[in-house]
Amino acid sequence: MKTYTYEKSRELFKRALKVVPGGVYGHLGPAEGCFMPVDAFPFFASRAQGAYFWDADGNRFIDYMCAFGPNILGYNDPDVDAAAHAQLKEGNCASLPTAKMVEFGELMTDTVEMADWAFFCKNGGDTTAFAIMIARAATGRKKIVLTRGGYHGVAPWTQKAGHPGITPEDVANNLYAEFGDYAALERLFTENRGEIACFMATPYHHPVFEDNRLPPDGYWKKVRELCTREGVVLAVDDVRCGFRLDTRGSDAHYGFKADLECFCKALANGWNVSALCGTDALRDAAASIMYTGSYWLSAAPIAAAVACVTKMRRIDSAKICLEKGTKLTEGLAAAGKAHGFNLVVSGEPSMWFMRIADDPDFDHHQAWVAECVRRGVYFTNHHNLFINTAVSDEDIRFTLEIADEAFAAVKRDGPLSARKGWQS
Ligand SMILES: Cc1ncc(COP(=O)(O)O)c(C=O)c1O
Repeated sequence: MKTYTYEKSRELFKRALKVVPGGVYGHLGPAEGCFMPVDAFPFFASRAQGAYFWDADGNRFIDYMCAFGPNILGYNDPDVDAAAHAQLKEGNCASLPTAKMVEFGELMTDTVEMADWAFFCKNGGDTTAFAIMIARAATGRKKIVLTRGGYHGVAPWTQKAGHPGITPEDVANNLYAEFGDYAALERLFTENRGEIACFMATPYHHPVFEDNRLPPDGYWKKVRELCTREGVVLAVDDVRCGFRLDTRGSDAHYGFKADLECFCKALANGWNVSALCGTDALRDAAASIMYTGSYWLSAAPIAAAVACVTKMRRIDSAKICLEKGTKLTEGLAAAGKAHGFNLVVSGEPSMWFMRIADDPDFDHHQAWVAECVRRGVYFTNHHNLFINTAVSDEDIRFTLEIADEAFAAVKRDGPLSARKGWQS
């Protein structure tokens, strides 16, 4: 098949560089490390529908990044978009919230098993920051424990001292433990007894550039007991996994109950709203904090979220994503094996991570991903992938055909370092 080229994307990027710092910033931009070799990737989308997006040059991709999580029901889901558009006609951003906010709160507390209340913002990072503030307000303690390599947004406290713009004071109250290492966590809690406000972690460990790690057997149950015993607030950052493992919350999926749980991404299928859920014990602390934003109670995204959560519950989107992800990842690994490559898949199948084994510097892996992307299967290299309910059996069949062709091309032409003409 003829492979894609990206002339219009590149023209747009040149223009963007003049007027936007970095051209395209953050994880959607080519500087971040997910896009290597950069030549293989488009930089701008023109439209999206269902399981696909089209880039600025008109190339179609089956999208396994799902906008880095928001796309769970397929782009432009008719039920979600109809609810948002109906609300837009009534009004969106007014001087008061609408009844939709109350409806959304009722739906979230009915859906998320641990939730006695819900609070709405815009981005995932708004909810993780609020969770930390609530824990500090409730306990009167300063320190927080995070997992090494975990991601909770871009606020200064989530970053590393010495990174541009970050001072030592920004992270002075942070302690770090390896995800899944209960003994290390218990030690930290003992060494800092009476000083730790919060332990925040994702339900399973999904860092970039590394195999993703599921919680060891019994880990969360012991962590729950430890937090209760030590008076530490247990905050689960479900921004990425939320609704891809279980519509009741990923803590329910792994058999424990968080005190605070952060949601965003899949919550409204791409409309901009996030939610922090909490238990009764933290209700007063949450209410005591001054926390809000210009658009946080806009009605249209909230109407979209109500429709999205309702639909995710009705069709059990998490189960569909887990099943489709299993079929796809088993097929990808088999395609690799047929060409002599060991494709290691980790994490949960609805949000998996993959790399080719015995591949120093990701040299074969990046070449394989590039061969897939230039044939219309959109993966990135070192971030976890996502699936959505709109991916059909035919899409999976097509993906596996492309994956097979891409493995054959890597076998024939070698890893990136052996090739000429591809810019990394
Ligand atoms: C686990 C996790 N927490 C927090 C965030 C931050 O969310 P946002 O980028 O919407 O602020 C993300 C975003 O990728 C995430 O994956």
